[in-house]
Amino acid sequence: MKFIATCVSGLQEVAAAQLAREGFDGFVLADLEDGMVAFETERFPPSLGSLRYVNNVFEIVAQHRLGPGQSIDGFLRWLVSQDYWHRPLKRSVGPRERTYRLMLSNANELVAGDRLAVARLCGAIEAATGLAFNGRSGDAEFWAMTRVGGDSYLGKRITRHNATHDLAPGALKPELATLLCLISKPQATDVFLDPFAGSGALPIARARWPYNMIFASDIDEAKMEALKQRSRSGEVKIRKNSPFIARAGVATALERIEDGFIDTVVTDPPWGQFDTGLKDIEGFYRAVMREMVRVVKPGGTIVMLLGDRDLAAQIGKEFAYAITEQARFEILVSGKKAIVVNWSRHS
Ligand SMILES: C[S@@+](CC[C@H](N)C(=O)[O-])C[C@H]1O[C@@H](n2cnc3c(N)ncnc32)[C@H](O)[C@@H]1O
Repeated sequence: MKFIATCVSGLQEVAAAQLAREGFDGFVLADLEDGMVAFETERFPPSLGSLRYVNNVFEIVAQHRLGPGQSIDGFLRWLVSQDYWHRPLKRSVGPRERTYRLMLSNANELVAGDRLAVARLCGAIEAATGLAFNGRSGDAEFWAMTRVGGDSYLGKRITRHNATHDLAPGALKPELATLLCLISKPQATDVFLDPFAGSGALPIARARWPYNMIFASDIDEAKMEALKQRSRSGEVKIRKNSPFIARAGVATALERIEDGFIDTVVTDPPWGQFDTGLKDIEGFYRAVMREMVRVVKPGGTIVMLLGDRDLAAQIGKEFAYAITEQARFEILVSGKKAIVVNWSRHS
């Protein structure tokens, strides 16, 4: 069976590596593109609909490569001219599904498509599956997608709707938070720190893997109080004998944390663009990094999301005596360019 998973643009290699570790029968990586992983498995993996590091997963029933200058309408017409996808599409329909809706995505943008081409494709889908069209809330959701490179897919969405509207202002989406934690290669023995925890997206994502201790801190006391409440409410996966500690604190002076106590920092400091208090952004990042270098043990890991790629390079250079860059990923966060850097603390 063939699938495509969409993910944060720029982190497809991280998502692909994790998909390969899931243990799906006969997993083969088929293609990697910005924000997309295509892969095959022998059977339908039941956990596919609930993976936390991807945005959406689609079971693919037809694939075509568009010629230069062709748009999604060309793909829709091509689909109508083929019938090899009818059976797999029917097989993808669940026993309780009675209706469907069709989404069209052209280079990651939702589009309406040519009316006649859409009507013909809907006719073919209905003949193949027996489902009735419901454009607002179909039980099944089929997607015709053309990617920037010209590869085009017809698939069924198998992920549930993401509840991104529930996010606190400024909070990282769970998919990105999970990918950032994956970059740090979580170990059960980890003492983990996010000194700019905000709503707690990163520590919460990290707590889904075994850990030794998690420290979440932030200058904003109200945010830490809210995170404590969430951790008590059972929303955060607290493990027996593995404390999850949220407390207010300033990231540049973590007095309560001893030198070399932390294995892994994964964090998302303020970008400086909207924080009027941050006049000297370079000085701020320098002070933050000095403290990270102090608290992280030799051989430990620092993963940081930064909004300024030049600043990331400069900080890496200034602290080259203590940290080595292991990987960097140029990504998009809500359409804005950002960078993720993974440094290791020298042994
Ligand atoms: C980009 S947000 C982090 C958002 C977080 N990753 C989330 O998902 O909610 C940056 C956070 O840094 C906090 N902050 C700003 N200056 C700080 C400082 N000097 N020490 C600690 N936290 C600080 C802000 O209160 C804010 O919550």
